[in-house]
Amino acid sequence: MSAYSRELPTTVGEALKVAVEILSRRMDLLQTGEVSMEAEVILAFSLSEEWSRMPTRSELLMSVGKTINTRSAERTVRIAQSRADGKILQHLLGFQTFLEHNYIVSPDVLVPRPETEILVDRLVLELKVMKEAPTQGLEIGLGSGAISVELCSRFPYIKMAATERSSAAVFIAEENSERILGSAWRDRLQILTVSEGEVFPPTIQGTLFDFLVSNPPYLKGPEEATEEVVRYEPAVALFAPKDDALFFYRKIAEGASALLKPQGIIAVEIPHERSQAILSLFQAAGWNSRIELDLTGRERVLIAKRA
Ligand SMILES: C[S@@+](CC[C@H](N)C(=O)[O-])C[C@H]1O[C@@H](n2cnc3c(N)ncnc32)[C@H](O)[C@@H]1O
Repeated sequence: MSAYSRELPTTVGEALKVAVEILSRRMDLLQTGEVSMEAEVILAFSLSEEWSRMPTRSELLMSVGKTINTRSAERTVRIAQSRADGKILQHLLGFQTFLEHNYIVSPDVLVPRPETEILVDRLVLELKVMKEAPTQGLEIGLGSGAISVELCSRFPYIKMAATERSSAAVFIAEENSERILGSAWRDRLQILTVSEGEVFPPTIQGTLFDFLVSNPPYLKGPEEATEEVVRYEPAVALFAPKDDALFFYRKIAEGASALLKPQGIIAVEIPHERSQAILSLFQAAGWNSRIELDLTGRERVLIAKRA
C-alpha cells in the first residue's frame, strides 16, 4: 500500500473523503456500503480525543465544514491506511460494540460478531419465559466475555461459569467484566481455564445449570475463513480440535445432560454450512432441538431442550 503523500485534510468533510478514498483501494476486502461505514467509524474514533468523546454518525455528518486538528487528521489517515493494508478494523480501534456495550478486543480474542448477538438474543427470549427464573449459566469458550457479560448485565440474578482455553483471552475477558459489571464482577462470573480438548472441567461437575451457551471454535481449517481472519484472529478461537468441525457440538450434545436441570436449555451458535449435521447430532443425543436464522436468513443458532 502506497504511503499517503497529499496534504492532510483540515475539515470533517475532507477527512471523510480521504478515508473513503484510501479504503476504496481495497474493494476486494470491503463492499461498497462498508467503505463509507468504516470511513465514518475511523473518523469518529480519530476525533474522539479532540471532541472529548466519539461523535455519533449524525453529529459527524452535520459537521462536514468543521475544522479538525492535525492530530485527528493524521490519525484518520493512519488508521484508514492500516485498514486498507488488511488489518481488522476492531483491532485498530481496540473495541467492538456487542449488544449494549463496547468490548475491548485485541488479536488475542475473537472479535464478537453480529451473528453472536442473535445467539444471545434468542437465549434471552428463552430465559425470560422459563418457569423458574434462571440463576446459573454455563458458557463454553468465553473469549472477550461478550456473551457471559451481556447475560450478567441483562439478568442481575444470573451467575455464570465460563470456560476458556486461552489465558490471553481470559485477561481481556477480565478487563471487560470489570469495566462493564463493576469491581464485584467475580461474584457474577467464574472463569475456568481448561486444557486443550477439555470441554467440561472437573470443577463444574456436580453443579446443575439452568442453561449452557456456546459459540465454540467451529472451523475445520484455514480454507474455511477469509485470509484476514486467519491472519489476525487467534487460531484457538477459530479451529475445532482434531480437524473435527463438530467436536464441541458432539461433546455438548453428549455431556450437557448431566450438567443441566430438567428444564435446562442449550443455545449454541452454529455454522450454517453444517447446521443439519449439528441438528442431527443433538436429536440423536435425545435433545428436542430447533434452528433459528440470523439476519441474513442463514441457519445460525440451535436451541435444544430435553425431549
Ligand atoms: C469462537 S470463539 C467465541 C468467543 C466468544 N464467546 C464470542 O462469542 O465472541 C471460541 C472461544 O473458545 C475458546 N476455546 C477454544 N478451545 C476451548 C476449550 N476446549 N474450552 C473452552 N474454550 C475454548 C477460544 O479460545 C475462543 O475464545
